[in-house]
Amino acid sequence: MPDLRSKTAIVTGATSGIGEVCARELAGMGATVVLAGRSQQKLEATLARIKQKYPDADVVKGPLMDFGDPASVRGFAAEYKRQGRPLHMLVNNAGAYTTTKHQTKEGVAELCQVNHLGPYLLTRLLEGVLVASAPSRVVIVSSVTHRWGNLCSTPDQLRQEFLQGDFGHYYWNTKLANCMFGYELQRRLGGRGVQSCVVDPGAVKTDVWRHSHWLVQRAVDYVYAPPDVGAEALIYGAAAPWDTAGDRVGDGGRAALPPDQDLRYYAPVVFASPLLTWYSPEGNQGTLGHAAMRWVGLPCSTPWGVAKCWACMAAAVTMSTIDWPLRQLSRGRVQGVRLVPSSALSYDRQLGAALWDASADEAGVPRACQLA
Ligand SMILES: NC(=O)c1ccc[n+]([C@@H]2O[C@H](COP(=O)([O-])OP(=O)(O)OC[C@H]3O[C@@H](n4cnc5c(N)ncnc54)[C@H](OP(=O)(O)O)[C@@H]3O)[C@@H](O)[C@H]2O)c1
Repeated sequence: MPDLRSKTAIVTGATSGIGEVCARELAGMGATVVLAGRSQQKLEATLARIKQKYPDADVVKGPLMDFGDPASVRGFAAEYKRQGRPLHMLVNNAGAYTTTKHQTKEGVAELCQVNHLGPYLLTRLLEGVLVASAPSRVVIVSSVTHRWGNLCSTPDQLRQEFLQGDFGHYYWNTKLANCMFGYELQRRLGGRGVQSCVVDPGAVKTDVWRHSHWLVQRAVDYVYAPPDVGAEALIYGAAAPWDTAGDRVGDGGRAALPPDQDLRYYAPVVFASPLLTWYSPEGNQGTLGHAAMRWVGLPCSTPWGVAKCWACMAAAVTMSTIDWPLRQLSRGRVQGVRLVPSSALSYDRQLGAALWDASADEAGVPRACQLA
């Protein structure tokens, strides 16, 4: 891994799970790491654990930031800019999983606020620093679940249906939004030296599953990978040289792509399986079938779409169950991170731009990037 001395990183959700491992290892490679979290106590404990492994690490606590509260995101960004630090790596890792449906006091679906709109706002508020520090990198942590996500019927309805509405309460939709935001950021700022990529950490034993069904929790306990392994994709996305990051054998043409087409999604080996990547959601067809499936937040507009959706979920569950056992059995032969396609819908340029604009309006930032 490269020498990151003279580089500065922010890692959100750094107080546990894969975020903590990512922050620790970036610091171990020499980067100055600003830990972003919402609990002073947890930030201090994380700092102490990192210092225990890397006593010389240059790690600092950022101001408290809760993605559920846009004011605290603004406070974090303002303080960061006031301190005059550069920003070479922004790892948008913080995220939550819940099935309960709450709205924030601003009227946004809470899960959407935490998983998408909060990170969107933070990134937009720091975009000028990212451009000034270029080459810089934004890593957005998505999930295999984005593959059965859908945002709404038409781009015009994004705000009503996703940001403020029912679709924003579904984890997979927020993770699809992560992909679309990462790609749109790359389209808009890739040419200015801000490289954005989306990563899937795989199936990892962390606190994020604490609100899931008890059966999932048992699976997590027994067969999910430890955070040290799950963080590999994040560390790779943040630190690997852009020319070669994620390159597979035979993927030599990628470095030559223009920045607005160089859209990267990294996944650990088993999650890069064609069994998952073949799946292509139906998109925004707004048909009766789609409407009928809305109550479960699924993107299916045809019987074939319904079948593919469930097949994809079954494949994801299978992959999640076999990933870590397989890696252990293979004694290191099955490992690493690959560049793979995300769902077809995640590349929808029109929807990506519409999501960007709707998110800007909702978050109260200009639609156009402010680069000064
Ligand atoms: N674990 C997996 O199998 C898996 C798979 C795919 C994707 N992911 C994604 O990976 C990312 C990291 O999750 P993890 O697995 O490492 O779980 P985790 O251990 O629960 O870490 C989540 C981090 O996000 C922070 N966070 C949650 N809500 C927040 C909020 N409102 N404001 C600020 N920070 C908040 C948490 O802070 P607190 O400690 O204060 O709660 C914690 O530091 C998430 O985006 C998750 O969706 C995980």
